[in-house]
Amino acid sequence: MSVLDIKKFPDPILRQVATPVTEFDTTLRRLVDDMIETMYVSNGVGLAAPQIGVSKRIAVVDVSEDRTQQLVVINPTIVSRTGSDSAEEGCLSIPEYRDTVTRSKELKLQAFDHMGKQYELDAQDLLARCLQHEIDHLDGVLFIDHLSRLKRDMFRRWFKKRAEA
Ligand code: NI
Repeated sequence: MSVLDIKKFPDPILRQVATPVTEFDTTLRRLVDDMIETMYVSNGVGLAAPQIGVSKRIAVVDVSEDRTQQLVVINPTIVSRTGSDSAEEGCLSIPEYRDTVTRSKELKLQAFDHMGKQYELDAQDLLARCLQHEIDHLDGVLFIDHLSRLKRDMFRRWFKKRAEA
């Protein structure tokens, strides 16, 4: 396994709509293993393929305390959502910036695992939040896009200042 480089905002690949996976082969499984390794090394709760420069609909997630509950999410669809919940989020592609994002509290997910097996999952709270964040990445959406105009302006100023430093 190897640790991959994480693309940082404003890399344009983070804004592309990723394409579905069609081949569930050893190349895919190697990529998924590397993404899991990269997520753990980076202390992230999730990682989407565009973040490592691959514009495919693949994400890995682990919100467990002991980091043993990894979930492989390929070609995902959120089939239903309920409730709403606000909590602070960050993103490995936007290091050091955190802000509060409102998302659905519960959802039902349909996706494929690394072997190409389809599954359904009911997720709540942190897992539901993390899945929404990662699936957003597959559509070129970042958590800062969910902020109010005022907060987005604050982010832009923060980013500009940081880039100049
Ligand atoms: Ni992210």
